[in-house]
Amino acid sequence: MGGKLWGGRFTGSVDPVMERFNQSLSYDRRMWRADVTGSQAYARCIQEAGLISQDECDSIVTGLDKVGAEWESGVFHVMPGDEDIHTANERRLKELIGEAADKLHTGRSRNDQVATDMRLWMRAALATLGEHLRSLISVMVDRAASEIDVLMPGYTHLQRAQPIRWSHWILSYCWMLRRDHERLLEQARRVDVCPLGSGALAGNPFNIDRQALASDLGFSGITNNSLDAVSDRDFVAEFLSWGSLLAVHVSRWAEDLILYSTKEFSFLRLSDAYSTGSSLMPQKKNADSLELVRGKCGRVIGKSCGFLTTLKGIPSTYNKDLQEDKEAMFDVYDTLEGVLQVANGVMATLKVDAAQMRAALSPDMLATDLAYYLVRKGVAFRTAHGLSGGCVALAERQGVPLDRLTVEDFRSVSPEFGSDVLDIWHYERSVDQYSVAGGTGMTSVRAQLDQLRQWLQAS
Ligand code: ARG
Repeated sequence: MGGKLWGGRFTGSVDPVMERFNQSLSYDRRMWRADVTGSQAYARCIQEAGLISQDECDSIVTGLDKVGAEWESGVFHVMPGDEDIHTANERRLKELIGEAADKLHTGRSRNDQVATDMRLWMRAALATLGEHLRSLISVMVDRAASEIDVLMPGYTHLQRAQPIRWSHWILSYCWMLRRDHERLLEQARRVDVCPLGSGALAGNPFNIDRQALASDLGFSGITNNSLDAVSDRDFVAEFLSWGSLLAVHVSRWAEDLILYSTKEFSFLRLSDAYSTGSSLMPQKKNADSLELVRGKCGRVIGKSCGFLTTLKGIPSTYNKDLQEDKEAMFDVYDTLEGVLQVANGVMATLKVDAAQMRAALSPDMLATDLAYYLVRKGVAFRTAHGLSGGCVALAERQGVPLDRLTVEDFRSVSPEFGSDVLDIWHYERSVDQYSVAGGTGMTSVRAQLDQLRQWLQAS
């Protein structure tokens, strides 16, 4: 097996099915940039340690630039036997610069190399996802600000509960997404350590300066234990579970909007740009964008469960099982990138039907207000709750909406009711009583908007 980088001790050749089974180049080629950058820094590092000359180092670095340029322009020619991005790049480097390429891997293993490449790749990936997340939050905040006057029914158990501001509903998702952004920054800190210099498992015997190597690659620190460093995929597992929670948030948001866009609710209409029709029923306008956002959440959770299951039984240090990390990581990245961009587009373009939302409010949704009315007259809440329930029952018996009961009707339930009970039937006033921090009242929603805007500016 002379063609393989690891072929020295082999006499037989690899079965072609095994060759395909073993390769990762078909998907890890997307880390070519990280692999090139990592190798260039490693060349400088071993030059500093006196393992290669300045000329050899220069030739490696320039050669790798050429390898990178080939990937970049799409002309990199994959050869049979290129097992992964690391072997492919080294093979090509040798073709380009000759002997000096043979020194690049001194003291290095693909084990510390792949762990480094993945962290470099993940660092950039998190930055991009962070931007998408930020821009989705920003679209939501803008929408919440401009439609702050729109009221809608708030639901618990999917039953109409109390009137709320549409903006309050929008902002509820902003806070979830902001937590996701916080978690993104936290995991980015843990990604930001360099495993290069850990060798295959035992470390590096050539007195290299790992700190300098890490700084050269823009990492904030280095890993502390070589055995751990080569097999630590916590950052992948963390990314996948972070992505799962983010996907859950966006999926719930999508589910709300799917419901609100049905004819039965008619609260809003999706833009044609994010809807599709039926091949059979001409009248249909389906919320495919949102259904896919919801559906892809299952895919992300699946990748997370799958990879944790891969990790759970692996003995100490690197084992080839770990190669399974990449497809999960790439797939979740691609999925989330799509989900966030589509969510952004849907949110920016949907049209709200404020009149329909308002028409869905009904006086019974103010039954709590009726109880609060009594509380403000000094009645204990439990008693007030029972009396308000009595009014609801009375209206039902009379077959009229709650706001059609007369003052006498109310007084028949409790003498605490005065003629000002009729002032209750005012949705704006009802909503604005929730002026407590975090409430749905105008002042509180404005305060939320301010907080989120400040955060957007600062982040
Ligand atoms: N393609 C491999 C992976 O992704 C690179 C590391 C291979 N290491 C080894 N000892 N075979 O995990």
